[in-house]
Amino acid sequence: MTSLVRVALGDRGYDIHIGGGLLARAGELLAPLARGAVAVVTDENVARLHLEALLQSLRGRGIDARPLVLPSGEETKSFAWLEKLCRELLGLGVERSGLVLALGGGVIGDLAGFAAGILKRGVAFAQVPTTLLAQVDSSVGGKTAIDVPEGKNLIGLFHQPKSVLVDTSVLSTLPGRELLAGYAEVVKYAALGDADFFSWLEMNGTKALAGDPAALTHMIAHCCRMKADIVARDERESGERALLNLGHTFGHALEAVTGFSGTLLHGEAVAIGMVLAFRLSEQLGYAPPADRQRLIAHLQGAGLPVRIGDIRSERPSPETLLEFMQHDKKAERGKLKFVLVRGLGNAFVSGDVSLDAVRAVLAE
Ligand code: NAD
Ligand code: GLY
Repeated sequence: MTSLVRVALGDRGYDIHIGGGLLARAGELLAPLARGAVAVVTDENVARLHLEALLQSLRGRGIDARPLVLPSGEETKSFAWLEKLCRELLGLGVERSGLVLALGGGVIGDLAGFAAGILKRGVAFAQVPTTLLAQVDSSVGGKTAIDVPEGKNLIGLFHQPKSVLVDTSVLSTLPGRELLAGYAEVVKYAALGDADFFSWLEMNGTKALAGDPAALTHMIAHCCRMKADIVARDERESGERALLNLGHTFGHALEAVTGFSGTLLHGEAVAIGMVLAFRLSEQLGYAPPADRQRLIAHLQGAGLPVRIGDIRSERPSPETLLEFMQHDKKAERGKLKFVLVRGLGNAFVSGDVSLDAVRAVLAE
């Protein structure tokens, strides 16, 4: 079973293909985009597991596919690796009319997409995401970036891919903790905009996470459709796209205090962050407590952390977390911008949240 989702951005629009075994069809699906040397950028973990299958499929269609293998991990999203990658792409002979293929998680997608966006003033790229997080979120929508000491994702550009191939079978090799972290982003879509999808996840989420092909394809396609619709309406995040940051203000602060390390994966921080955002919404009189309980039950049932105390490190103080949030969001006159909810499936952006309300939630 394969699903097709369109990102409707006019002449920059593209299709997301979702299904099991799509790596084997990459040559057929990408042939119309491939001109001259096609660079396949990946990381060492993914290269070991999935590069050969992709190269075989591309070369089987006569595509001149040339791999570039980078170290895995967030540290690769740096200026140093961006420079190395750009120069290697030039060395491979990628033409202005050529193609860069990103095979990997969000790190490879963000870095390779950025490199493609600046190489020769912009070369086409396509995404073959291999983590659940990348399949439901980072490979769609054209945000590309690297990190700098001043913060994550601060240097980058919008550069939409020409195509996204989501092969659900590659998730079978993903470590369980990474799979669950991606699942937090899946739950995020339901929590921000689709209560029926939340009910579907309550019924079928475990099946999808266990690798059931139909459930997995349905789940990923649903998230991609939601993101595609939001991106089509608000590509540059001047409004609605900010809803995709539900749980991220708290989450970023938690990631920052734990040093963006393996102590807390991004998706785990988002899971805790969403619960805190629901609690804040409740405190401010917007959301019923029952919805937060339902969210907690589902995340916890899946095996995700739901409270600050679940982090395996010393508990950060509310003041430290608040400091990170103010820095992150540039609080104005004691007010922070937040994604809040009126209940499950009904998120909105508020620019009017007092620091005291946030402090109270963090102190609980
Ligand atoms: P990642 O790319 O670091 O991948 C996680 C780990 O899984 C890595 O060790 C990787 O080598 C390994 N891996 C990947 N696929 C595998 C597979 N199929 N089998 C076995 N191992 C595999 O992390 P991620 O969670 O995919 O992405 C995180 C990044 O995404 C962050 O840098 C974040 O800023 C970015 N992000 C970007 C957007 C966006 O819109 N551009 C959205 C969300 C997150
Ligand atoms: N992951 C947030 C966005 O793409 O806007």
